Amino acid sequence: MRLRMSIRFLAVSAFGVLLAAVPMGYAQQAQQGDQRPPWVEDGDTRPAEEAYKNIKVFTGLPANRLKAVMNTWKNSLGVECTFCHTRGEWESDSIEEKGFAREMHKLTADLTKNYFGGKEEVTCYTCHRGEKHPAKRLPAAPVQRQARPVAP
Ligand code: HEC
Ligand code: HEC
Repeated sequence: MRLRMSIRFLAVSAFGVLLAAVPMGYAQQAQQGDQRPPWVEDGDTRPAEEAYKNIKVFTGLPANRLKAVMNTWKNSLGVECTFCHTRGEWESDSIEEKGFAREMHKLTADLTKNYFGGKEEVTCYTCHRGEKHPAKRLPAAPVQRQARPVAP
């Protein structure tokens, strides 16, 4: 329940960004020859599992919110949709990363529930920071701070 609320929050905050990104995304798909637009109609609030074909972790999420989640995942990991999907076969599980992303979603939901009282403190971005592979170790040499420029 709480998780769903935080997804809603996420969806709402991503909405503005999406408005700007939608025409670009469509143009890109058209370019790559995909005949099947991936998303349901904007007003479609059926549970995602009814509107889409292969929903395992986002059961109960209003179908029109999935777009915001997918865009957030893409940007949090700094990848393209095709890191997890074959274009035009969005329901397919043939790419391993898609299955892994489901596990990562469960991990993030468990952290939220068990360690942060349901508050959205940990997201994909918390660890990934726009990278596929979150850094595991400190950098070998500490990053040197630039001296602050002195006003003339
Ligand atoms: C990090 C992996 C990942 C990325 C990146 C990603 N997705 Fe997904 N996508 C998933 C997973 C996992 C599911 C299934 C969710 C579930 O089981 O509830 C899914 C489900 C979907 C579905 C529903 C398909 C169906 O009918 O079941 C669509 C459509 C979709 N993604 C489109 C996209 C688009 C478009 C992008 C890029 C903007 C994208 N995804 C980026 C992992 C990803
Ligand atoms: C607690 C930190 C943490 C959080 C939160 C987290 N991840 Fe990860 N993720 C990792 C680590 C660590 C790896 C393994 C990196 C490696 O293989 O170098 C990883 C790997 C992955 C991979 C596999 C990358 C590959 O190259 O195959 C995917 C996909 C992924 N995460 C998606 C997600 C998504 C989607 C979310 C949010 C729902 C998420 N992660 C949240 C730490 C995290």
